[in-house]
Amino acid sequence: MLKVLEHPLITHKLTQMRKKDTKTKDFRENLDEIGGLMAYEITRDITTVDVTIETPICEYVTQEIAKDIILVPILRAGLGMVNGIASLIPTVKIAHVGLYRDEETLQPHVYFEKYPVTIAESTAIIVDPMLATGGSAIEAINMVKKQGATDIRLVCLVGAPEGVAAVEAAHPEVDIYLASLDEKLNEHGYIVPGLGDAGDRIFGTK
Ligand code: PRP
Ligand code: URA
Repeated sequence: MLKVLEHPLITHKLTQMRKKDTKTKDFRENLDEIGGLMAYEITRDITTVDVTIETPICEYVTQEIAKDIILVPILRAGLGMVNGIASLIPTVKIAHVGLYRDEETLQPHVYFEKYPVTIAESTAIIVDPMLATGGSAIEAINMVKKQGATDIRLVCLVGAPEGVAAVEAAHPEVDIYLASLDEKLNEHGYIVPGLGDAGDRIFGTK
């Protein structure tokens, strides 16, 4: 399932990020805030369990989140989405998956991975601002599956139709959440209109 989370606040903030003159600090802050806005929708159907509590007035049967939620940022750019989402999720733990995309072949290369021990029985939410060819996301999902995770979601800011189709073909059971489905990829594998190189814009490396 692909869900594009359209909301005027998300669109406005994404517009600021797309502008080529937006500076690193504003770029990061808008990404952080969009992550928080997306958190509500991406966790809408997570499993809850009944618990009995005492309010100041009476005993009450209500619900709490049933299992850990593990955010899995794809390094580097995925780190920019962690704080905004994590600050809203009480049970959050954080994994790290280090991948870079070869600029010539566009193939993903793994350079780091580290997971909380509970990953197999948790909800894993992979985050990365950019879903371009889909190669990095597909590899990250493969890696998380190798750890035993079965409840996996993918959350990106901007996606290209080519990347969405590739992830859907490789991992049809993984729900994909985007803030925007853009037009296409250009000849260099960049998303059009996109926002440029997310990692460089988040960390000021170019
Ligand atoms: C970017 C982006 C994704 C990937 C998307 O990362 O953050 O991880 O490219 O492209 P794909 O869908 O074609 O795989 P990059 O490899 O540039 O690394 P960085 O985050 O360290 O800049
Ligand atoms: N990675 C990015 O950072 N931006 C794109 O448009 C494509 C891949």
